[in-house]
Amino acid sequence: MLHFGGDYNPEQWPEEVWDEDVALMRQAGVTIATVGVFAWSNLEPEPGRYEFGWLDRVLDRLHDGGIKVALATPTASPPPWFTLAHPQAMPVTADGVRLTHGSRDTYCVSAPEYRAAARTIAARLAERYAGHPALAMWHVHNEYGTDCRCDATAAAFRTWLQKQHGDLDTLNEVWTTAFWSQRYSDWAQILPPRATQYLPNPAHVLDFRRFLSDELLSGYVEQRDLLRAANPDVPITTNFVQGGWVSVDHARWAAEVDLVAVDHYPDDAGPGAEEETAFAGDLARGWGGGSWLLMETAPNLIYTRGRMHAKEPGRLTRHSLGYVARGSNGAMYFQWRQPRGGAELFHSALVPHAGPDSPVFREAVGLGRTLKSLSPQVADAAPRTARIAVTWDAPSWWALQGGGRPSADIDYLAAVRQAHRALFRSKLETDFVFPGVSTDALGDYRMIVVPHLYLVSDEAAAAFRDYVAEGGHLVVGHLSGIADPAGRIRLGGYPGAFREVLGVRVVEWHPQPPETEFALDDGLRASRWAERVETAGAQTLARYTAGVLAGAPAVTRNRFGAGSAWYLSTALTDDSLARLLRQVAAEAGVEPVLPGLPSQVEAVRRGDLLFLFNHGPEAATVPLPEGEVTVQGGGFRTVRPAGCGTPGGTPTGMSSSPGRSGGGR
Ligand code: GLA
Repeated sequence: MLHFGGDYNPEQWPEEVWDEDVALMRQAGVTIATVGVFAWSNLEPEPGRYEFGWLDRVLDRLHDGGIKVALATPTASPPPWFTLAHPQAMPVTADGVRLTHGSRDTYCVSAPEYRAAARTIAARLAERYAGHPALAMWHVHNEYGTDCRCDATAAAFRTWLQKQHGDLDTLNEVWTTAFWSQRYSDWAQILPPRATQYLPNPAHVLDFRRFLSDELLSGYVEQRDLLRAANPDVPITTNFVQGGWVSVDHARWAAEVDLVAVDHYPDDAGPGAEEETAFAGDLARGWGGGSWLLMETAPNLIYTRGRMHAKEPGRLTRHSLGYVARGSNGAMYFQWRQPRGGAELFHSALVPHAGPDSPVFREAVGLGRTLKSLSPQVADAAPRTARIAVTWDAPSWWALQGGGRPSADIDYLAAVRQAHRALFRSKLETDFVFPGVSTDALGDYRMIVVPHLYLVSDEAAAAFRDYVAEGGHLVVGHLSGIADPAGRIRLGGYPGAFREVLGVRVVEWHPQPPETEFALDDGLRASRWAERVETAGAQTLARYTAGVLAGAPAVTRNRFGAGSAWYLSTALTDDSLARLLRQVAAEAGVEPVLPGLPSQVEAVRRGDLLFLFNHGPEAATVPLPEGEVTVQGGGFRTVRPAGCGTPGGTPTGMSSSPGRSGGGR
């Protein structure tokens, strides 16, 4: 069944509002409410004094209304009394400033006092609610990500390093501590990266990022295990967050949750929002192995750069179903009712300040109906149909952040998103693979695109080589294969780990200003980056045309075994990258989802169901294998085309245009 609902914070409202909440939830077809995420100070107003009565009444009311509950542990926001009792459990910034309460996420995950308090409140909730009939899942914490550089963190970091590296000689070697006299002669000398005079050691910073991800994960696992012990049948998860500040490696975390739950907030007001939605959905599906849940998104106003933007009619529905089409088992929002005060008082909600007589609530009611009718039609997991994958690797992202890089314009996330966007605009279905975690899935794809995969292990490099040798099509972008997992450069020429399979050797980087575009001799356009490439078996497909690199190879292809490997030594523009990736896809024998799709229409397969989204204002005609269908401007349609399920391209009856409140019948 597809979930529909979101964060519900009844503790912010008098009880008489709760009855209206449940009535409105029923009207909207809400199936699940996430309760208690930030309710610690209401649940435990004083140390050891618990008030569960209000939560009992909330859960009972929801249950009576037929609404399930994702019950959260409130550990992302300890109450003020906790801070005052345990100041040493507050996080310390890299500058040495100890933070205090007043916001949220103010805790140090390595502080024993915090961990004990988190376990206690989670255990009390488990004791009381593990058997509650409304309980459908546990939602541990909220968006794990708090960074701390305190002494407790330092101690935990050292323990992690000892496990990782064994002895100090090895650590000194892989951190290259001979540079700038950083050799450690005692574990006690190692601190978390803190404010220092000039550039920090990048290997130290990278290991700290890995440690922090593992340390936060251990905080989750500890709560998960005690919740599981209380009732092994209730699935347990925590909400992963996507975005620029992410401090954990979700590809690794995915193994520890019963279902991957993801928060996603696109921040583009224009068509970029749909591209972001597609990216997030594909990445989440990868983490979840086909199945995941959109735990939070904004129902209406989205934070764009510097101001909020109201979603146009129909966009809430299209975005929500966009995630569902990409494997989410529902659509959930932050939040149910817009608050009267508090830090996020203008953040959008399904029931806005204006009340239910509002466009967003009306659209939510229609969306609830749509999800209900879709429920029996979608499989639990989205079977893998993409033949193209893009690589994702959080440690490579982390390694490319910070100072000392060859260009301030290097942006891992932007590079991966650009690769995905180029495929999205080309209507080519895309999955993600995680070579830092496992290379087992590589062989499932005809084509793999590798943007900025800076860190590569010997094993992963060998797996990519075998992939091509056995007939795969590999497209490697610059800044890939440069270093080993510790961040040490692979010597002898870039892109070290991929030199052999690509048949090239890069002897010099030529970073370029982002504002200047330049042309290659086959018409492709690029900016930001150039390299001196020497071919060693590869064929040159495009050359630089100006400056010291004029005439030198820019884009190459190497036939290797039964497959081919392309190298892009420069940062192609969106259009040029899309053009090149379409050529590679054609060589790899990969077709777009549907031939002849109008540019504003997105088509996504989930099992035998085809979702069609018209992101433009005008109606569009979509050719199907048999016949055609019209999708209203701003609307969507689901069909079962011939060859992927029900014969005859039968419309399933699900369609909407934004003018009609609702959608679906
Ligand atoms: C995150 C949090 C929510 C809320 C939203 C706002 O996803 O989990 O509590 O702050 O962001 O967009």
